[in-house]
Amino acid sequence: MPNVLVLPGDGIGVEITPEAVKVLEAVLKDHSTKLNFEYGLIGGAAIDEVGKALPDATLAAAQAADAILLGSVGGPKWDTLPAPQRPELGGLLAIRKALGLFANIRPVKMLPMLVEASTLRTEVVKNVDLVVLRELTGGLYFGEKGRGTNPRSAFDTLVYTEEEIKRIVELGFQTAVKRRKKLCSVDKANVLESSRFWREITLEVAKNYPEVELTHMYVDNAAMQLVRLPEQFDVIVTENMFGDILTDLASMLMGSIGMISSASLNGSKGLYEPAHGSAPDIAGKNIANPLATILSGALMLRYSFGLEDEAQKIERAIERVLQEGYRTPDLAKPGDKVLGTREMGNAVVEALK
Ligand code: IPM
Ligand code: MG
Repeated sequence: MPNVLVLPGDGIGVEITPEAVKVLEAVLKDHSTKLNFEYGLIGGAAIDEVGKALPDATLAAAQAADAILLGSVGGPKWDTLPAPQRPELGGLLAIRKALGLFANIRPVKMLPMLVEASTLRTEVVKNVDLVVLRELTGGLYFGEKGRGTNPRSAFDTLVYTEEEIKRIVELGFQTAVKRRKKLCSVDKANVLESSRFWREITLEVAKNYPEVELTHMYVDNAAMQLVRLPEQFDVIVTENMFGDILTDLASMLMGSIGMISSASLNGSKGLYEPAHGSAPDIAGKNIANPLATILSGALMLRYSFGLEDEAQKIERAIERVLQEGYRTPDLAKPGDKVLGTREMGNAVVEALK
């Protein structure tokens, strides 16, 4: 039986991960594949419990697991710790790096019944169907960083090796081949040397994919184009920080950051987590949207276990629940039937039947 390591983490992570587990168990109820769920500590919860955001036991369990489901990390309680010890850097970024999860896939697809939930006009968002491939273990978030004195200063460095760029860009092309065959590589090549290098490597990789239409876009323009005419995008591939920023922005095309799931992959190894954070302001109130985490569970079935039909069953069930007018508060409009976190999880389980 495949082992799934569940790392709820902090804040709403504790509330949303059980809903995803519930849905995964329900969809596999009559299936020959069953998942065995194990639990571990990460982030602030791990700091409180064992003094370290990524305990050795968690890393060992993650290395041994067939897949990992993660909630979210961080919160005001740990914000004053030195950066390397914080839940974000010492927990989340550390586990991504340790497992080599270089490819972060974030699908952004408009569901027709959520068109109204977007802050953008219907005609802008109604045809959105794109996927962002974010490089996840290099670039600005992992380069050398530090402080200087006289003058007081601080620095972060953005470094990419040829190999790091190649593997994510290749995955970008492969993803595009299976979709509408359009790849947009986002960079800042008018200013950054690392971006000029990224472009150079991308053009080299492109020679192997003549069927894919490759474009390059500066990241500032990409941000603008994503809200101006998002349907122009099919697959976007980009550097770690650019991808972090653009996917938060793109989440609003789907109506809420609570809808954007993600898979972080390294070959067959996968970690699945919502793209949103731990939302300390709404934690513990049973009002967080569990759908991004449930959708991340669907991605797990798809990418780690090859269970495409079951992944789609979850996606269809979510659509059915939304179709019936049920919403968590982040998506709700007057007249919608508002559900709490647990109740939304239950509704998805019901809809699977
Ligand atoms: C994300 C999050 C994380 C990131 C934070 C919590 C460190 O924003 O997954 O997008 O920057 O990668
Ligand atoms: Mg982010």
